[in-house]
Amino acid sequence: MKHLFVTGGTGFIGARFVPLAREAGYEVRVLTRSAQAAERWRQAGVTPVMGDLLTPGPWQEEAAASEFVVHLAQPLTFGGRVTHKRAEAYREQRLRMDSLLLDSLKPGTVKRVLYVAGTSYYGDQGAQLVTEDAPPKPSGWGPYIAPAIESLPKHLARGLPLVEAYPGSVYGLGSWFVEYALEPLKAGRRLFGLKETLTLCMSPIHVDDCARALLHLLEHGQVGQRYFVVDDEPVSFSGLIQVAATTLGVAYRKVILPRWLCHLAMGPVVTDSLTAEARLSNARLHSTGFQFLYPTVREGVPALVKQWLETLPQTR
Ligand SMILES: NC(=O)c1ccc[n+]([C@@H]2O[C@H](COP(=O)([O-])OP(=O)(O)OC[C@H]3O[C@@H](n4cnc5c(N)ncnc54)[C@H](OP(=O)(O)O)[C@@H]3O)[C@@H](O)[C@H]2O)c1
Repeated sequence: MKHLFVTGGTGFIGARFVPLAREAGYEVRVLTRSAQAAERWRQAGVTPVMGDLLTPGPWQEEAAASEFVVHLAQPLTFGGRVTHKRAEAYREQRLRMDSLLLDSLKPGTVKRVLYVAGTSYYGDQGAQLVTEDAPPKPSGWGPYIAPAIESLPKHLARGLPLVEAYPGSVYGLGSWFVEYALEPLKAGRRLFGLKETLTLCMSPIHVDDCARALLHLLEHGQVGQRYFVVDDEPVSFSGLIQVAATTLGVAYRKVILPRWLCHLAMGPVVTDSLTAEARLSNARLHSTGFQFLYPTVREGVPALVKQWLETLPQTR
Protein backbone atom coordinates (compact mmCIF):
# COMPACT_ATOMS: atom_id res chain seq x y z
CA MET A 1 0.00 0.00 0.00
CA LYS A 2 1.31 3.46 -0.93
CA HIS A 3 0.92 5.94 1.95
CA LEU A 4 -0.12 9.41 0.83
CA PHE A 5 -0.43 12.45 3.10
CA VAL A 6 -2.61 15.24 1.66
CA THR A 7 -2.95 18.80 2.93
CA GLY A 8 -5.90 20.85 1.65
CA GLY A 9 -7.85 17.64 0.92
CA THR A 10 -11.04 19.32 2.14
CA GLY A 11 -10.66 22.21 -0.32
CA PHE A 12 -12.08 22.75 -3.79
CA ILE A 13 -9.39 20.81 -5.70
CA GLY A 14 -8.51 18.45 -2.83
CA ALA A 15 -12.08 17.15 -2.54
CA ARG A 16 -11.77 15.88 -6.16
CA PHE A 17 -8.20 14.73 -5.75
CA VAL A 18 -8.59 12.50 -2.66
CA PRO A 19 -11.17 10.05 -4.13
CA LEU A 20 -9.04 9.71 -7.28
CA ALA A 21 -5.96 8.92 -5.22
CA ARG A 22 -7.87 6.25 -3.30
CA GLU A 23 -9.12 4.70 -6.54
CA ALA A 24 -5.51 4.63 -7.74
CA GLY A 25 -4.57 2.50 -4.72
CA TYR A 26 -3.14 5.02 -2.26
CA GLU A 27 -3.85 4.79 1.43
CA VAL A 28 -4.74 8.42 1.97
CA ARG A 29 -4.39 10.51 5.11
CA VAL A 30 -5.99 13.93 4.94
CA LEU A 31 -4.92 16.75 7.20
CA THR A 32 -7.74 18.99 8.43
CA ARG A 33 -8.45 21.46 11.22
CA SER A 34 -12.15 20.63 11.17
CA ALA A 35 -13.63 17.87 13.34
CA GLN A 36 -16.70 17.75 11.06
CA ALA A 37 -14.58 17.30 7.94
CA ALA A 38 -12.58 14.61 9.78
CA GLU A 39 -15.78 12.72 10.52
CA ARG A 40 -16.92 12.96 6.88
CA TRP A 41 -13.56 11.56 5.72
CA ARG A 42 -13.74 8.74 8.25
CA GLN A 43 -17.18 7.77 6.96
CA ALA A 44 -15.80 7.81 3.42
CA GLY A 45 -13.03 5.41 4.44
CA VAL A 46 -10.22 8.00 4.47
CA THR A 47 -8.02 8.46 7.53
CA PRO A 48 -8.25 12.04 8.81
CA VAL A 49 -5.32 13.64 10.61
CA MET A 50 -6.29 16.52 12.86
CA GLY A 51 -3.83 19.38 12.76
CA ASP A 52 -3.06 22.94 11.82
CA LEU A 53 -0.19 23.63 9.44
CA LEU A 54 0.49 26.84 11.33
CA THR A 55 1.18 24.97 14.56
CA PRO A 56 3.74 22.20 15.11
CA GLY A 57 2.09 18.95 16.23
CA PRO A 58 1.76 15.18 15.87
CA TRP A 59 0.52 15.70 12.27
CA GLN A 60 4.18 16.30 11.35
CA GLU A 61 5.04 12.72 12.33
CA GLU A 62 2.20 11.42 10.10
CA ALA A 63 3.55 13.51 7.23
CA ALA A 64 7.13 12.39 7.87
CA ALA A 65 6.12 8.71 7.83
CA SER A 66 4.44 8.99 4.40
CA GLU A 67 6.01 7.96 1.11
CA PHE A 68 3.99 10.48 -0.88
CA VAL A 69 2.86 14.01 0.04
CA VAL A 70 0.55 16.34 -1.85
CA HIS A 71 0.50 19.89 -0.49
CA LEU A 72 -2.66 21.71 -1.55
CA ALA A 73 -3.44 23.71 1.58
CA GLN A 74 -3.39 27.46 1.40
CA PRO A 75 -4.54 30.20 3.79
CA LEU A 76 -8.02 31.59 3.13
CA THR A 77 -8.13 33.66 -0.08
CA PHE A 78 -11.79 34.41 -0.78
CA GLY A 79 -14.37 36.59 0.92
CA GLY A 80 -14.26 40.36 1.21
CA ARG A 81 -11.89 42.92 -0.15
CA VAL A 82 -8.27 41.82 -0.48
CA THR A 83 -5.96 44.60 0.62
CA HIS A 84 -2.15 44.44 0.50
CA LYS A 85 -2.23 44.06 4.30
CA ARG A 86 -4.48 41.00 4.05
CA ALA A 87 -2.31 39.56 1.29
CA GLU A 88 0.78 40.08 3.45
CA ALA A 89 -0.84 38.00 6.20
CA TYR A 90 -1.44 35.32 3.54
CA ARG A 91 2.25 35.44 2.57
CA GLU A 92 3.41 35.01 6.16
CA GLN A 93 0.98 32.14 6.80
CA ARG A 94 1.86 30.36 3.58
CA LEU A 95 5.57 30.54 4.39
CA ARG A 96 4.98 29.16 7.87
CA MET A 97 2.68 26.37 6.63
CA ASP A 98 5.21 25.30 4.00
CA SER A 99 8.08 25.44 6.40
CA LEU A 100 6.40 23.36 9.14
CA LEU A 101 5.37 20.76 6.56
CA LEU A 102 8.45 20.58 4.32
CA ASP A 103 10.98 20.80 7.18
CA SER A 104 9.32 17.76 8.80
CA LEU A 105 9.78 15.56 5.69
CA LYS A 106 12.78 13.24 5.45
CA PRO A 107 14.46 12.73 2.06
CA GLY A 108 15.09 9.04 2.78
CA THR A 109 11.43 8.23 3.50
CA VAL A 110 9.42 10.41 1.16
CA LYS A 111 9.48 9.32 -2.49
CA ARG A 112 7.63 12.26 -4.02
CA VAL A 113 6.26 15.62 -2.80
CA LEU A 114 3.81 17.41 -5.09
CA TYR A 115 3.76 21.11 -4.23
CA VAL A 116 0.75 22.99 -5.60
CA ALA A 117 1.05 26.73 -6.21
CA GLY A 118 -0.71 29.12 -8.60
CA THR A 119 0.01 30.73 -11.95
CA SER A 120 -0.22 34.23 -10.44
CA TYR A 121 3.45 33.58 -9.68
CA TYR A 122 4.07 33.93 -13.44
CA GLY A 123 1.87 37.05 -13.53
CA ASP A 124 1.22 39.06 -16.66
CA GLN A 125 3.07 37.30 -19.49
CA GLY A 126 1.44 39.23 -22.34
CA ALA A 127 -0.19 37.82 -25.46
CA GLN A 128 2.32 35.08 -26.34
CA LEU A 129 2.05 31.44 -25.25
CA VAL A 130 4.70 30.84 -22.58
CA THR A 131 6.23 27.77 -20.95
CA GLU A 132 7.30 27.16 -17.36
CA ASP A 133 10.77 28.45 -18.34
CA ALA A 134 9.48 32.01 -18.86
CA PRO A 135 10.80 34.43 -16.23
CA PRO A 136 8.05 34.82 -13.57
CA LYS A 137 6.54 38.31 -13.20
CA PRO A 138 4.39 37.80 -10.10
CA SER A 139 1.18 39.84 -10.02
CA GLY A 140 -2.12 39.73 -8.10
CA TRP A 141 -1.52 37.03 -5.48
CA GLY A 142 1.83 36.26 -7.13
CA PRO A 143 4.09 38.52 -5.03
CA TYR A 144 2.55 36.96 -1.92
CA ILE A 145 3.22 33.35 -2.94
CA ALA A 146 6.63 34.12 -4.43
CA PRO A 147 8.62 33.83 -1.15
CA ALA A 148 7.16 30.35 -0.52
CA ILE A 149 7.93 29.20 -4.08
CA GLU A 150 11.39 30.69 -3.95
CA SER A 151 12.10 28.72 -0.74
CA LEU A 152 11.62 25.42 -2.58
CA PRO A 153 15.17 25.10 -4.02
CA LYS A 154 16.54 24.83 -0.47
CA HIS A 155 14.31 21.79 0.13
CA LEU A 156 15.35 20.29 -3.21
CA ALA A 157 18.98 20.86 -2.26
CA ARG A 158 18.57 18.79 0.89
CA GLY A 159 17.15 15.95 -1.22
CA LEU A 160 13.37 16.39 -1.01
CA PRO A 161 11.92 14.95 -4.25
CA LEU A 162 9.74 17.97 -5.07
CA VAL A 163 7.57 18.39 -8.17
CA GLU A 164 5.80 21.74 -8.61
CA ALA A 165 2.31 22.07 -10.11
CA TYR A 166 0.78 25.41 -11.17
CA PRO A 167 -2.95 25.11 -11.91
CA GLY A 168 -4.44 27.94 -13.98
CA SER A 169 -8.02 29.19 -13.50
CA VAL A 170 -9.78 26.12 -12.13
CA TYR A 171 -13.52 25.92 -12.83
CA GLY A 172 -15.95 23.35 -11.46
CA LEU A 173 -18.77 22.80 -9.01
CA GLY A 174 -18.09 24.71 -5.79
CA SER A 175 -15.97 27.36 -7.52
CA TRP A 176 -16.19 31.06 -8.34
CA PHE A 177 -17.46 30.06 -11.78
CA VAL A 178 -20.79 28.82 -10.44
CA GLU A 179 -21.31 31.83 -8.18
CA TYR A 180 -20.08 34.55 -10.55
CA ALA A 181 -21.16 33.10 -13.89
CA LEU A 182 -23.69 30.25 -13.91
CA GLU A 183 -26.02 31.52 -11.18
CA PRO A 184 -26.36 35.10 -12.52
CA LEU A 185 -26.63 33.88 -16.12
CA LYS A 186 -29.44 31.48 -15.26
CA ALA A 187 -31.23 34.18 -13.23
CA GLY A 188 -31.02 36.58 -16.21
CA ARG A 189 -28.78 39.00 -14.32
CA ARG A 190 -26.02 41.07 -15.91
CA LEU A 191 -22.44 40.03 -15.26
CA PHE A 192 -19.89 42.51 -14.07
CA GLY A 193 -16.52 42.62 -15.78
CA LEU A 194 -13.58 44.86 -16.50
CA LYS A 195 -12.84 46.12 -20.02
CA GLU A 196 -9.68 43.99 -20.00
CA THR A 197 -11.64 40.77 -19.37
CA LEU A 198 -13.23 41.09 -22.84
CA THR A 199 -9.93 40.36 -24.56
CA LEU A 200 -7.19 39.28 -22.13
CA CYS A 201 -6.75 35.52 -22.00
CA MET A 202 -6.43 33.26 -19.01
CA SER A 203 -5.56 29.58 -18.95
CA PRO A 204 -8.43 27.52 -17.58
CA ILE A 205 -8.78 23.91 -16.48
CA HIS A 206 -11.78 21.85 -15.38
CA VAL A 207 -11.40 20.80 -11.74
CA ASP A 208 -11.73 17.10 -12.63
CA ASP A 209 -8.83 17.39 -15.08
CA CYS A 210 -6.89 19.42 -12.53
CA ALA A 211 -7.26 16.68 -9.91
CA ARG A 212 -6.40 13.98 -12.49
CA ALA A 213 -3.34 15.94 -13.63
CA LEU A 214 -2.09 16.33 -10.05
CA LEU A 215 -2.34 12.58 -9.50
CA HIS A 216 -0.59 12.00 -12.81
CA LEU A 217 2.23 14.38 -11.85
CA LEU A 218 2.62 12.69 -8.48
CA GLU A 219 3.48 9.54 -10.41
CA HIS A 220 5.06 10.85 -13.61
CA GLY A 221 6.33 14.36 -12.81
CA GLN A 222 10.08 14.88 -12.85
CA VAL A 223 11.73 15.92 -9.59
CA GLY A 224 12.80 19.58 -9.66
CA GLN A 225 10.46 20.36 -12.55
CA ARG A 226 7.54 22.80 -12.77
CA TYR A 227 4.34 22.01 -14.63
CA PHE A 228 1.54 24.31 -15.72
CA VAL A 229 -1.76 22.53 -15.11
CA VAL A 230 -3.93 24.18 -17.76
CA ASP A 231 -5.99 22.96 -20.69
CA ASP A 232 -5.12 23.19 -24.38
CA GLU A 233 -6.54 26.61 -25.15
CA PRO A 234 -6.34 29.96 -23.34
CA VAL A 235 -9.63 31.86 -23.38
CA SER A 236 -10.80 35.33 -22.40
CA PHE A 237 -13.09 35.62 -19.38
CA SER A 238 -15.85 36.80 -21.73
CA GLY A 239 -15.21 33.87 -24.06
CA LEU A 240 -15.55 31.49 -21.13
CA ILE A 241 -18.82 33.08 -19.99
CA GLN A 242 -20.14 33.05 -23.55
CA VAL A 243 -19.69 29.26 -23.72
CA ALA A 244 -21.68 28.96 -20.47
CA ALA A 245 -24.42 31.30 -21.75
CA THR A 246 -24.71 29.38 -25.03
CA THR A 247 -24.91 26.08 -23.15
CA LEU A 248 -27.63 27.47 -20.87
CA GLY A 249 -29.44 29.01 -23.86
CA VAL A 250 -29.43 32.49 -22.32
CA ALA A 251 -28.08 35.88 -23.37
CA TYR A 252 -24.78 37.07 -21.91
CA ARG A 253 -25.46 40.60 -20.77
CA LYS A 254 -22.52 42.49 -19.30
CA VAL A 255 -21.80 45.60 -17.32
CA ILE A 256 -18.29 46.93 -17.79
CA LEU A 257 -16.86 48.37 -14.59
CA PRO A 258 -14.09 50.94 -14.48
CA ARG A 259 -10.87 49.59 -13.00
CA TRP A 260 -10.99 52.06 -10.09
CA LEU A 261 -14.40 50.71 -8.99
CA CYS A 262 -13.15 47.12 -9.05
CA HIS A 263 -10.11 48.29 -7.08
CA LEU A 264 -12.41 49.92 -4.53
CA ALA A 265 -14.79 46.95 -4.23
CA MET A 266 -12.38 43.99 -4.44
CA GLY A 267 -9.05 45.58 -3.62
CA PRO A 268 -5.79 45.85 -5.56
CA VAL A 269 -4.76 42.19 -5.38
CA VAL A 270 -7.89 40.80 -7.06
CA THR A 271 -7.98 43.68 -9.58
CA ASP A 272 -4.39 42.91 -10.63
CA SER A 273 -5.23 39.18 -10.87
CA LEU A 274 -8.17 39.89 -13.17
CA THR A 275 -6.11 42.05 -15.50
CA ALA A 276 -3.06 39.81 -15.94
CA GLU A 277 -2.80 37.95 -19.23
CA ALA A 278 -1.72 34.31 -18.90
CA ARG A 279 -1.53 32.17 -22.05
CA LEU A 280 0.26 29.16 -20.62
CA SER A 281 1.48 26.15 -22.55
CA ASN A 282 0.64 22.67 -21.31
CA ALA A 283 3.23 21.02 -23.58
CA ARG A 284 5.28 19.83 -20.60
CA LEU A 285 2.23 18.28 -18.94
CA HIS A 286 1.32 16.59 -22.26
CA SER A 287 4.90 15.30 -22.57
CA THR A 288 4.33 13.22 -19.40
CA GLY A 289 1.53 11.34 -21.19
CA PHE A 290 -1.38 13.13 -19.50
CA GLN A 291 -4.66 13.09 -21.43
CA PHE A 292 -7.49 15.54 -20.80
CA LEU A 293 -11.15 14.67 -20.37
CA TYR A 294 -11.93 18.28 -21.29
CA PRO A 295 -9.20 19.66 -23.59
CA THR A 296 -10.88 23.09 -23.82
CA VAL A 297 -13.75 24.98 -22.18
CA ARG A 298 -15.92 23.98 -25.17
CA GLU A 299 -16.00 20.45 -23.71
CA GLY A 300 -15.54 21.31 -20.00
CA VAL A 301 -18.13 24.04 -19.55
CA PRO A 302 -21.10 22.11 -21.07
CA ALA A 303 -20.15 19.12 -18.87
CA LEU A 304 -20.06 21.37 -15.82
CA VAL A 305 -23.35 23.09 -16.69
CA LYS A 306 -25.05 19.69 -17.02
CA GLN A 307 -23.59 18.57 -13.68
CA TRP A 308 -24.65 21.85 -12.03
CA LEU A 309 -28.22 21.75 -13.37
CA GLU A 310 -28.58 18.24 -11.92
CA THR A 311 -27.75 19.59 -8.45
CA LEU A 312 -30.53 22.21 -8.57
CA PRO A 313 -33.95 21.52 -7.06
CA GLN A 314 -36.44 20.73 -9.83
CA THR A 315 -38.88 23.59 -10.49
CA ARG A 316 -42.24 22.94 -12.05
N1 LIG B 1 -8.90 27.14 -6.84
C1 LIG B 1 -8.23 27.59 -7.87
O1 LIG B 1 -8.80 28.13 -8.85
C2 LIG B 1 -6.73 27.48 -7.91
C3 LIG B 1 -6.05 27.94 -9.03
C4 LIG B 1 -4.68 27.81 -9.09
C5 LIG B 1 -3.99 27.27 -8.03
N2 LIG B 1 -4.67 26.85 -6.93
C6 LIG B 1 -3.89 26.29 -5.81
O2 LIG B 1 -4.37 24.99 -5.50
C7 LIG B 1 -4.27 24.77 -4.09
C8 LIG B 1 -5.62 24.33 -3.58
O3 LIG B 1 -6.56 25.34 -3.84
P1 LIG B 1 -8.10 25.19 -3.44
O4 LIG B 1 -8.81 26.31 -4.13
O5 LIG B 1 -8.53 23.79 -3.66
O6 LIG B 1 -8.02 25.47 -1.87
P2 LIG B 1 -9.21 25.89 -0.89
O7 LIG B 1 -10.52 25.42 -1.42
O8 LIG B 1 -9.03 27.34 -0.58
O9 LIG B 1 -8.91 25.03 0.40
C9 LIG B 1 -7.93 25.39 1.32
C10 LIG B 1 -7.53 24.14 2.07
O10 LIG B 1 -6.41 24.48 2.89
C11 LIG B 1 -6.62 23.90 4.16
N3 LIG B 1 -5.99 24.78 5.15
C12 LIG B 1 -6.03 26.13 5.21
N4 LIG B 1 -5.35 26.58 6.26
C13 LIG B 1 -4.86 25.48 6.89
C14 LIG B 1 -4.08 25.28 8.05
N5 LIG B 1 -3.65 26.31 8.78
N6 LIG B 1 -3.78 24.02 8.42
C15 LIG B 1 -4.22 22.95 7.69
N7 LIG B 1 -4.95 23.07 6.56
C16 LIG B 1 -5.28 24.33 6.18
C17 LIG B 1 -8.12 23.83 4.37
O11 LIG B 1 -8.37 22.70 5.22
P3 LIG B 1 -9.32 22.70 6.53
O12 LIG B 1 -10.16 23.94 6.47
O13 LIG B 1 -10.08 21.42 6.41
O14 LIG B 1 -8.37 22.67 7.69
C18 LIG B 1 -8.62 23.56 2.95
O15 LIG B 1 -8.66 22.17 2.71
C19 LIG B 1 -3.76 26.06 -3.47
O16 LIG B 1 -2.36 25.99 -3.30
C20 LIG B 1 -4.07 27.10 -4.52
O17 LIG B 1 -3.18 28.19 -4.50
C21 LIG B 1 -6.02 26.95 -6.84
